[in-house]
Amino acid sequence: MKPIQVGLLGIGTVGSGTFQVLARNQAEIRRRAGRGIEITMVADLDTERARAIVGPEVQVVADGRAIVANPDIDIVIELIGGYGIAKTLVMEAIAAGKHVVTANKALLAVHGTEIFAAARAKGVMVGFEAAVAGGIPIIKALREGLTANRIEWIAGIINGTTNFILSEMRDKGLDFGVVLKEAQRLGYAEADPTFDIEGVDAAHKASIMSAIAFGTPVQFGQAHVEGITKLQAADIRYAEQLGYRIKLLGITKRRDDVGGIELRVHPTLVPAKRLIANVEGAMNAVVVQGDAVGTTLYYGKGAGSEPTASAVVADLVDITRLHTADADHRVPHLAFQPDATAATPI
Ligand code: HSE
Repeated sequence: MKPIQVGLLGIGTVGSGTFQVLARNQAEIRRRAGRGIEITMVADLDTERARAIVGPEVQVVADGRAIVANPDIDIVIELIGGYGIAKTLVMEAIAAGKHVVTANKALLAVHGTEIFAAARAKGVMVGFEAAVAGGIPIIKALREGLTANRIEWIAGIINGTTNFILSEMRDKGLDFGVVLKEAQRLGYAEADPTFDIEGVDAAHKASIMSAIAFGTPVQFGQAHVEGITKLQAADIRYAEQLGYRIKLLGITKRRDDVGGIELRVHPTLVPAKRLIANVEGAMNAVVVQGDAVGTTLYYGKGAGSEPTASAVVADLVDITRLHTADADHRVPHLAFQPDATAATPI
């Protein structure tokens, strides 16, 4: 069967990671998806940088509309970010009957309800595992693994940049500004780091998780949002002396007593002996409380090139499997059976 054809909008940190992961793990990915997955077109304003990453065999264009208009493209990956051209191209891709994979939490937090409605009407899929907590498969956990549960609350460290800043300030006594620059250099921070340090990025992610957990529209506009910019080194030290760590948490909670949902992001004092208090650097961790399963904890890299690409490619595999609708690949378990191309199990 011919490979599924993918067009990539924006080849920055996550885009280049996606390209590398797909190339490196090609054989496994083909076996799991049931057919090959190939990025055949890339759009980026910096066509020279894009060409240097993808090599001569991939078509490079400056304008993403060429991808959305190409009838051979089955899946569009949107890694442009923001609400402007990213939204236009996502809506056009859906209207053209293409599946979409996006890491754009800002777009989904603000326009998710409209985007998902358009996708439903058109019968296409929108994958967004990469939009929340980078490489941690928290969307799949909420939608699939925990689907039997009535979710009671979710609380998580879901912004790598701020967790990195808080950790470095505490451990090395470094200044806020110095650590922020390092987070930008490492590719953790948003293009506009205000979103990270003011808690907006975490609120985007919390509102997406909240919508999935509680079956509500995405309600980012209702969230209480407070970042870490007012924290001083002394706050961190005092917390430590009292046996706490300061963590920027995204929290969403079912409030049956008032018939609503809590949705908030703010620096929180967490007792130092809790697992989540010991999540350091750009790592993320999400705690989910379900009525049947109890407390569960998901931990991993929440930002960066290949960790986020891991989630992008997972969505590509899922969508390919469902799009192909071949009975052997519709059920994930079957797709993992060794076949002639796989190494002999040992
Ligand atoms: N700026 C984000 C973070 C990137 O620091 O977590 C991943 O969404």
